[in-house]
Amino acid sequence: MTRSTAPFPLTRLRRTRKMDAIRGLVRENALGVSDLILPVFVREGLDDATPIPSMPGVERLTIDRLVRKAVEAHGLGIPAICLFPYIEPELKTEDCAGAWHPDNLVNRAIRAVKAEVPDLAIMTDVALDPYNINGHDGFVVNGEIVNDMTVEALVKMAVAQAEAGADIIGPSDMMDGRIGAIRRALETDGHDTVTIMSYAAKYASAFYGPFRDAVGASGALKGDKNTYQMDPANSDEAMRLIERDLMEGADMVMVKPGMPYLDICRRVKDTFGVPTFAYQVSGEYAMLVAAAQNGWVDRDKVMMESLMAFKRAGCNGILTYFACDAARLLNA
Ligand code: PBG
Repeated sequence: MTRSTAPFPLTRLRRTRKMDAIRGLVRENALGVSDLILPVFVREGLDDATPIPSMPGVERLTIDRLVRKAVEAHGLGIPAICLFPYIEPELKTEDCAGAWHPDNLVNRAIRAVKAEVPDLAIMTDVALDPYNINGHDGFVVNGEIVNDMTVEALVKMAVAQAEAGADIIGPSDMMDGRIGAIRRALETDGHDTVTIMSYAAKYASAFYGPFRDAVGASGALKGDKNTYQMDPANSDEAMRLIERDLMEGADMVMVKPGMPYLDICRRVKDTFGVPTFAYQVSGEYAMLVAAAQNGWVDRDKVMMESLMAFKRAGCNGILTYFACDAARLLNA
């Protein structure tokens, strides 16, 4: 090969991309199975699964099937699952009393999973929406989502989940003061080792659409969640929320949704240096899967690329409906 006499580039960044071995040496981030949290939907009944049309590949599971799923996830090396209940429309009420019943669906599911796979961490969602006849995360009084009364209910709900054996409590309701109130109640009730992962920067997002189908809240929801979830235009406000929730006793914080909010993840990590998680939500999952089903993108590749993006943005871990599929690829 003859050499060109043109001046050579001083820096050839392609040198470190020359071969897989060298690409591996300079790789800055790694995605591991231990970064993944699997969200799961649980329903009443026996040995059954209901597909969720807007989330192909995801099903609502009866508790026995959920236990099998938990065994599978644990076998793949996934450290945690996050439970969401599907509550039948006729069981939704205005007072949401089912939310803190010690033997409600979620609490029975926690006990069943813990009995079978005690090493798998169980995360729960704290918000009233699955139980609420209005589909809102808080109580609705005269058309308004009331804060302080809701916080009292969330505290009862969180304590009941901790009592059932939950390891990570995940308040997703966006009421003010709930982290401090839940933390105090957990301490008082002897649950001082229970972790709180605050859905601290949770945006009012249209990407939750398929999830609301999954938990049967779409039909129920009256209006929108804009008076409590964040405006997608804001970033400084997310920092205030994170700081506040950390001061109130959150151990870990979450940004939600994920892919459209990677700038927030990075800012949280750089500013606070605390365990930071992102939720790749139902709509993000649905978009990727729908495009893959059309043959427009490669499912495995967009899945892994999207998950790596969270690591690059500074996240410690990701809640993702792809957790089992990604784990299988990572373990291969
Ligand atoms: C409810 C809750 C939502 C999600 C998690 N917890 C929906 C909402 O706020 O309306 C969304 C998760 C997803 O879309 O995958 N508090």
